[in-house]
Amino acid sequence: MKAIILSENGGTDKLVLKEVNKPVIAPNEVLIKTKALSINPVDGFVRKNEVYTKKKLMPQPGEEMILGWDVAGTVVETGTEVTDFETGDEVFGMVKFPGHAKGYAEYVAAPADHLALKPSNISYREAAAATLAALTAWQGLVTYAKIQPGDKVLIHAAAGGVGHYAIQIAKHFGAYVIGTGSAASKDFILSQGADEFIDYNREKFEDRVKDANIVLDSIYGDHILRSINAVKHGGRLVSLLAFFESEIAEKAKAKELLTYRIAVESNGDDMKEIAKLLANGELKSYVSDVYSFEDIPKAQDKVDGGKTRGKIVIEL
Ligand SMILES: NC(=O)c1ccc[n+]([C@@H]2O[C@H](COP(=O)([O-])OP(=O)(O)OC[C@H]3O[C@@H](n4cnc5c(N)ncnc54)[C@H](OP(=O)(O)O)[C@@H]3O)[C@@H](O)[C@H]2O)c1
Repeated sequence: MKAIILSENGGTDKLVLKEVNKPVIAPNEVLIKTKALSINPVDGFVRKNEVYTKKKLMPQPGEEMILGWDVAGTVVETGTEVTDFETGDEVFGMVKFPGHAKGYAEYVAAPADHLALKPSNISYREAAAATLAALTAWQGLVTYAKIQPGDKVLIHAAAGGVGHYAIQIAKHFGAYVIGTGSAASKDFILSQGADEFIDYNREKFEDRVKDANIVLDSIYGDHILRSINAVKHGGRLVSLLAFFESEIAEKAKAKELLTYRIAVESNGDDMKEIAKLLANGELKSYVSDVYSFEDIPKAQDKVDGGKTRGKIVIEL
């Protein structure tokens, strides 16, 4: 089968199209014939990061490193212990994250409990999009922050992959949503359901918002310190990047915040909740660009640029 292997850590020139063996499934896995994949900022991070590839992907001697976790496709084989899926099912999920899922391939071996059935009303590209990014938004707002109706929720990078799902999920739970982005993203962020928009180039978000029940922060640097100012005393602060240590921890403690530095995890039950919202139209994937399998390096370059609107998807 065709796969895009990572020949060594580095730039997107290290992503190389190669013929490799089809994966052999374990008893708890299904074999998916891939129809669509999606790309995340973490793909580029891992591509450059030797420590990550050694510790988390742990390629065995002679084994090719293959990035990618977000898969949608058709089940062509089921392991002996699999009861939830059968051959011919259309499925999607974030597979084996943060391990070696080998998603950039024509066939992917996926644990059945990382998957959900693809709703019939959405395309494979929309399904592949709603995996790592949608799960992060779900786990951040629902599993950790325990979002409630009427919560005021500030979502940073609201035009991006995680952000556009986070707006829609927060609205599903009856929250009041404020999204941050550049001026060019204003209409898009409001179209996703946000009640207010803040242009980060023109206004300090913490000058406008000081009483959020929940802030979802996904921006590097001292941004998290500024986000602490936007949460009300005793509120919830979810970080996708910063760790709550030293000055950040002290400041959060002084406001008695509940703080969560989350790392998204593969979870079929959460995928099924996302599938329900996709099926009833409350959650929609916005796919801004679609690339061919051979153009995965170009797709990674685009995501590395940090200006993605919604999601970038690969179609096979
Ligand atoms: N810990 C975890 O488990 C986890 C999971 C998923 C993602 N992440 C991390 O979270 C971050 C976001 O992920 P993603 O997939 O949503 O990324 P993404 O799709 O690449 O996000 C791009 C968006 O970020 C916006 N943006 C850039 N700088 C901004 C700023 N200062 N304020 C507000 N918006 C800004 C851009 O909007 P404009 O074009 O309008 O500037 C763009 O729409 C990434 O760093 C990713 O690695 C972590």
